[in-house]
Amino acid sequence: MNYENAIPGLGTISIRAIDNEYPRPLSPSIYAEWGEMAPEIRDMVFERWIVELTQPDGSLIDVGDLSAHAVWYGPTPGSRALNIGISLVEKYRGRGIGSIAQRVLAEELHSQGIIRVEAQTDITNHAEKKSLKKAGFECEGVLRQAQQRADGLHDMEVWSHISG
Ligand SMILES: CC(C)(COP(=O)(O)OP(=O)(O)OC[C@H]1O[C@@H](n2cnc3c(N)ncnc32)[C@H](O)[C@@H]1OP(=O)(O)O)[C@@H](O)C(=O)NCCC(=O)NCCS
Repeated sequence: MNYENAIPGLGTISIRAIDNEYPRPLSPSIYAEWGEMAPEIRDMVFERWIVELTQPDGSLIDVGDLSAHAVWYGPTPGSRALNIGISLVEKYRGRGIGSIAQRVLAEELHSQGIIRVEAQTDITNHAEKKSLKKAGFECEGVLRQAQQRADGLHDMEVWSHISG
């Protein structure tokens, strides 16, 4: 057992790489009510992971999923950041799982040589902002009118986790 990733009374959190065909658990939220998608989004490449809970009796449950896509800040290898996203099944929110899963993913990506792991979240998403802070991310500022969802444009905060 990895005690750093244990939540008393709940179990241990780990992440497991999956492909796009793996059935991800349903985790709807107001932050994923997209409306009409842009056609170009089909060309985006996402890496994906399941957030897995090992319960005290040893049984495993898929409690959410994580994704990462590349963001290039220049043409050089060191200019490639990975931008991560997370969504948990509703009944597993607010119990510390999100902060552990995002810290574990940031550490995993750093171990693969990625210096900058970033995440962006709606300025009103207080649970995710707190979760990112607990995961060791730092807030860098606000991206104004950066994300369109079904109900219009939203300001987003950008957070980062830097290796070393
Ligand atoms: C966002 C999300 C991944 C966070 O994971 P989580 O496991 O729920 O978060 P954590 O338990 O690690 O931390 C959340 C913290 O915010 C707090 N919190 C939760 N809702 C809150 C709210 N509305 N206002 C203020 N704080 C809130 C919790 O109490 C907790 O703080 P604590 O550890 O001091 O008690 C998860 O809630 C989720 O999947 N939400 C829906 C999808 C989503 O918003 N994804 C992110 C899109 S960018």
